Amino acid sequence: MENSKPQRRVRYKGKYPKKFEEKYKELEPEKYQDIINHVISKGNTPAGMHRSIMVDEILSFFDIQPNQIGLDATLGFGGHSKEILTKLNHTGHLHATDLDTIELPKTEKRLLDSGFTQNDFTLHNLNFKDFDLIGEQKYDFILADLGVSSMQIDDPMRGFTFKFDGPLDLRMNPNLGIPANFRLRNLSALEIEGMLVENADETYAKEIAQAIVKEFSQGKTIDTTKALQKVIASALDRLPKTIKEDAIKKASQRTFQALRIDVNNEFESLYEFLEKIPLYLNKGGKVAILSFHSGEDRLVKKSFKQFLNDGIYQEISGPLSPSGDEVFTNSRAKSAKLRCAIKS
Ligand SMILES: C[S@@+](CC[C@H](N)C(=O)[O-])C[C@H]1O[C@@H](n2cnc3c(N)ncnc32)[C@H](O)[C@@H]1O
Repeated sequence: MENSKPQRRVRYKGKYPKKFEEKYKELEPEKYQDIINHVISKGNTPAGMHRSIMVDEILSFFDIQPNQIGLDATLGFGGHSKEILTKLNHTGHLHATDLDTIELPKTEKRLLDSGFTQNDFTLHNLNFKDFDLIGEQKYDFILADLGVSSMQIDDPMRGFTFKFDGPLDLRMNPNLGIPANFRLRNLSALEIEGMLVENADETYAKEIAQAIVKEFSQGKTIDTTKALQKVIASALDRLPKTIKEDAIKKASQRTFQALRIDVNNEFESLYEFLEKIPLYLNKGGKVAILSFHSGEDRLVKKSFKQFLNDGIYQEISGPLSPSGDEVFTNSRAKSAKLRCAIKS
């Protein structure tokens, strides 16, 4: 009789690549448009891409005219920039800044491949708070789409999300500043708690801060995204079973957000940027800022209101939210808020 040991069923791997490195098709969108369309139709963003938010609203506010000079302070994938360049139609000039040394050259190639030239745009690997260093006297419009790009979130090696394991880095420019794992090690429990509350309104800030510090005091390290999430889960372990899983997920999202804001000095940069904008806008020049959480939106709102009261801005508007359709087809748009101002 033959050996009747049952054969193990080969595990079905699924039709679509699961790991970031396997998503070669999505990473070459020009070649695999059908797959890209499929991912987008499900309300997701294909790996290596970023879908620009509230494009129509921003373009309609700017009402771009030939020969205008603009600044896209957060180039990212270049989606907004490409639309702006299309409106400029090879007249005027668009400057764009981004901290990200990994994505910027890819975006530059993408814009060149789309038929725009160095006469049309100049990219600057700069923090937007230093946009005055570009040397342009005045702008007709300035756009900032704050936060991180989908490419940054989706790349496990950058450490922006607990969904994948990777080094706990979270720097937008990996050559500047210190990565999140070092930063955490140098903070006291009180400082971590303050950071979690100030940057993300974290409900369990005290518990998470204490769990992080306890880990270090036991000689352990928190060098990866999954290691940090494990510590967050341990801090919330006492919660009732019915709410625990959801609470851990939300606390992890907020903790990563808070850490990212801290590591990249996001509030300081935004504050300095907002202060400089009116100095570099022409009369009637326009600024549009997309923000994604209350901390950012508060700063934008305060700055716009202050400059309106001082007569420096003639008009402010917002917050405007994306349409239901946009949120339906791009879940990353759901927390977006657009505020606009016009220089007196
Ligand atoms: C949401 S993405 C922008 C996406 C872009 N609007 C598009 O349509 O592709 C935000 C980008 O801003 C960059 N960024 C964030 N803070 C910055 C800062 N202070 N200075 C320069 N770039 C910054 C990030 O590196 C990221 O690439």
